[in-house]
Amino acid sequence: MSESEPTRHAARIVVIDDEQDMRQSISQWLSLSGFQPDTFASAEEALRMLGPDFPGAVITDIRMPGMDGMVLLKRLMGMDSTLPVILITGHGDVPMAVEAMRLGAYDFLEKPFDPERMTELARNAVKARALALENRALRHELADGKTLMRRLVGNSPEMVRLREDILDYGQADGHVLVDGETGTGKTLVAHALHAVGPRAGKRFISVSCIGEEDERLAARLFGPVEGGGLPLVEEVRGGTLCIEDIEALSPVLQGRLLAFINEQGSPAATRIVAICNQHALGRTLEDALRPDLFFRLAAMQITLPPLRMRGEDILALFNSYATDFAEEYGCPAPDLSAQDAAHLLQAPWPGNVRQLISIAEQAVLQNRRSAGSVVSLVMADNESAGGALTTEGKPLKDYVEAFERTLIDNTMRRHKGSIAAVMEELCLPRRTLNEKMAKYGLSRGEYI
Ligand SMILES: Nc1ncnc2c1ncn2[C@@H]1O[C@H](COP(=O)(O)OP(=O)(O)OP(=O)(O)O)[C@@H](O)[C@H]1O
Ligand SMILES: [Mg+2]
Repeated sequence: MSESEPTRHAARIVVIDDEQDMRQSISQWLSLSGFQPDTFASAEEALRMLGPDFPGAVITDIRMPGMDGMVLLKRLMGMDSTLPVILITGHGDVPMAVEAMRLGAYDFLEKPFDPERMTELARNAVKARALALENRALRHELADGKTLMRRLVGNSPEMVRLREDILDYGQADGHVLVDGETGTGKTLVAHALHAVGPRAGKRFISVSCIGEEDERLAARLFGPVEGGGLPLVEEVRGGTLCIEDIEALSPVLQGRLLAFINEQGSPAATRIVAICNQHALGRTLEDALRPDLFFRLAAMQITLPPLRMRGEDILALFNSYATDFAEEYGCPAPDLSAQDAAHLLQAPWPGNVRQLISIAEQAVLQNRRSAGSVVSLVMADNESAGGALTTEGKPLKDYVEAFERTLIDNTMRRHKGSIAAVMEELCLPRRTLNEKMAKYGLSRGEYI
């Protein structure tokens, strides 16, 4: 993210307060902390822009003329119970705050509150929201395992191995540990493990170990649940419990999780897929988890490779997402030049597949306006993410092959599958062209 565009991917927060001063100071604090606040003087106005897929959180005062914060909360919970709503309560509104929690409020802030506390809550709320939306999207799309396996793009040896592991481990039905850098596909793989296994028809519930106080997380997982209802381990019984950011689980909760696992018979009533974010760790997971828990979870382990180590998958992923976005935006997908391809292959991709998807989207939008090149996008994005171009760990052969494949692919597309035209443009004899197309899995039929 560049300095000049601090809010390009900033998390959105809707702020509702009838007092202008309060509204302004909350909004200033949030902006300074990197959020993108939208302020409203009344609940009615805010409701107009809050839909069930709103990708952020809400901070609202309780006491307001017209619709008050409690009624708003009820309306929002009716619309989408996973939308995090943080209520601002006046001094002495404790019973109201308790009622709000029962109704599903994310948390509350008692006036006068510490702005740091507010931004921390906001940060956690936004993270929880992203997770909820991500899982919802995946659930919609990935109802069955076949669809899901088809969504995994790439034919590098790492991807081939990954597909095999997902099928083997998924069907073996034991607990699995998934780790890898941010954006490498851990959450996607967790869903895949569930979808290809015998529990596919049962529930898949995700919970993150980051951003919730220990006691609250314990209560949510194991009960008793604030305001009644089932703890997650009960709700998910028979299905898969996906524990995100397991490296952040406190020692006490690790003990409870281990006890929970040990209490279950074999096969386990509830399957656990634990996800560890290597990037956030800075030490090995073996050090972060108690050994007995580690061994319980890590009997089946999937480590996702960083994108920069996946060679030609980078181009396959780019093309696949660019095609999707082009369709979505109703404009042609960008034609990758050989130089573009080289840059895509050499970029360090600290944000991995997620970062690549965002570049593919920007490239499509840029193409629509006929402005700029893919190269400059990739350079700028990776530089601002703190990485320089690299050739680390990849043999020259990979680049050459990736070049070749991209060139042939583009030329075939431009000539709509006319072999003669491609032979001429690339100065290749027919036999060589055929061999290369076979080698790269390109078939003429796709271009006609
Ligand atoms: N092999 C793949 N093929 C196609 N899409 C992929 C692949 N791997 C990941 N993705 C996509 O990349 C994005 C990031 O993946 P995902 O959210 O699973 O990563 P993650 O490792 O869980 O990231 P984080 O550590 O931030 O939680 C998602 O949109 C996912 O669908
Ligand atoms: Mg994830």
